[in-house]
Amino acid sequence: MLEKLESVYQQAQAELTEIRDSAALAAWKSRYIGGKGAVSQLLRGIGGLTPEERPVFGKRANEVMAALDEAYAAREVLVQDIEMAADLEGAALDVTLPGRQPAMGRLHPSTQTLRRFSEIWAEMGFSVYRSRDVETDEMNFTLLNFPPHHPARDMQDTFYTTDPDVILRTHTSAGQIRAMRELGGGGTKPIRVVLPGMCYRFEQITNRSEAQFYQVEGIAVGHNITMSDLKGTVAEFARKMYSPDAKVRYRASYFPFTEPSMEIDIECFLCGGEGCSVCKHTGWLEIAGSGMIHPVVLRNGGYDPAEWSGFAFGMGPERIAMLKHGITDIRNFWANDSRFLEQF
Ligand code: PHE
Repeated sequence: MLEKLESVYQQAQAELTEIRDSAALAAWKSRYIGGKGAVSQLLRGIGGLTPEERPVFGKRANEVMAALDEAYAAREVLVQDIEMAADLEGAALDVTLPGRQPAMGRLHPSTQTLRRFSEIWAEMGFSVYRSRDVETDEMNFTLLNFPPHHPARDMQDTFYTTDPDVILRTHTSAGQIRAMRELGGGGTKPIRVVLPGMCYRFEQITNRSEAQFYQVEGIAVGHNITMSDLKGTVAEFARKMYSPDAKVRYRASYFPFTEPSMEIDIECFLCGGEGCSVCKHTGWLEIAGSGMIHPVVLRNGGYDPAEWSGFAFGMGPERIAMLKHGITDIRNFWANDSRFLEQF
């Protein structure tokens, strides 16, 4: 019996050193040191020994059991390491590789320009007034001194709805009356606001004109506001937006809601006034329509034109962004092509 025990012990040890996975380890455990394992079975035969042999055998069997238990625990740790290493190798994970860059969202080039505009106007004391895209004919035209059937309405081809009084605004000037009425305290308080927003015109879409585009309107109403305030304010904007020595010029123009009216040009920032294809060899770029607010419009906004005066201007940020980045097709702005948008 004792010899049998020693040979089981040796065989168990020899087998254990070959084991490399947990299934084989579990099988080994039940074969040798489990309740029905070889050592327990030998112990069960202890009754067949002589009274002298029994304690000797019992003591040795317990020693063998303890030694195998210990060897088992040590092997278990090793097997776990082997299996973890194999797992990692199977996953072929190279932790030194650079991470994958997630695709980042970004601001639309028009939004970027609009935000820059608002920032500059805020520095000059203009707050932002949000008006609406869907307007009444009254706000967009009539109260701005476009009488019904007046030919000036044809300057801006309009998107109408089934309700003849409801249209999509053709210019941000449509918000002028709302801003004056809402912020002017019934013609008692000065105002200074910019109105950024989308405008819509029923136009043939080409590389130079879209049916939707942004404008940024600005209005200032107060006592003794004059044309030189308008000129100084717009020139300051041009210096901040384009370059510290941006040159500005004014050309007489016509809008029903301003009198006098003028177009504002800046010296072409691409050729420095020399003349290039972008400025059509004139050396100048048109950036805004503007003028002194017409007395009829002031009155419609709640102000007494005998006491109050003001200026207004309207700028197109897409045109500016196109010039700045050399974009030759305005349709890119609303085509939602990420190859275009990712460049900004
Ligand atoms: N609303 C005019 C346009 O869209 C621009 C403008 C704004 C002109 C304010 C004068 C004053 O052409």
